[in-house]
Amino acid sequence: MRRLKPFIQMLFTPMTKIIIESIPDGSVIDIGGGGEGVIAQIGKERITAIDKLQSEIDEAKPHALNANWILADATDLPYTNEYFDNATLFFSGMYMSLETFRAMCKETYRVLKNNGEFWIWDATISNQNDLFILRLQITLPSGKKINTGYGTKQRNRNLMVVKQILNETKFHLKIADNHKKWFFIKATKKI
Ligand SMILES: C[S@@+](CC[C@H](N)C(=O)[O-])C[C@H]1O[C@@H](n2cnc3c(N)ncnc32)[C@H](O)[C@@H]1O
Repeated sequence: MRRLKPFIQMLFTPMTKIIIESIPDGSVIDIGGGGEGVIAQIGKERITAIDKLQSEIDEAKPHALNANWILADATDLPYTNEYFDNATLFFSGMYMSLETFRAMCKETYRVLKNNGEFWIWDATISNQNDLFILRLQITLPSGKKINTGYGTKQRNRNLMVVKQILNETKFHLKIADNHKKWFFIKATKKI
């Protein structure tokens, strides 16, 4: 019954469509890149996808064999300062507590080069939901469509909350787009 409830909830959640037109240039660290490995599928060898779970990496790796797959926690990245040109996060912040999200932003800032961009696609989650479920149809720049679902017990996540944390981390906000169930942010590191 415990496993059946989320499954049924998933079936009855309407599909949200997301079109990814582009991802950042150069070397990119993708935070929480396992699961479908969406960013790695697009950027291939340019992407270093880090994930704290080997099982999530194993699931994603066959979709993008030439990406760099690294088992690591986003709050303690095994890279020197200013290592990557840019960074992405695709619906993995929704799995982090606010404390972890803050620490992740700080670490991402540290490993980014000056003028590096952090692109975030993440879910808008209210305070009421028991289990929050998002069903997505993702269209990649190649036209490939991925149908998937993400579920989390985290609460209180939205554009304003994430903007505030990015500000605290000293990121400069470049773009902030709010949609009904998700948001997109581009922020820049400027020293
Ligand atoms: C469901 S996936 C998100 C979607 C994924 N980006 C994709 O392309 O399908 C969320 C991932 O974030 C990872 N994650 C959550 N907290 C993390 C952390 N602190 N460090 C690294 N990975 C984390 C989870 O292990 C999980 O694989």
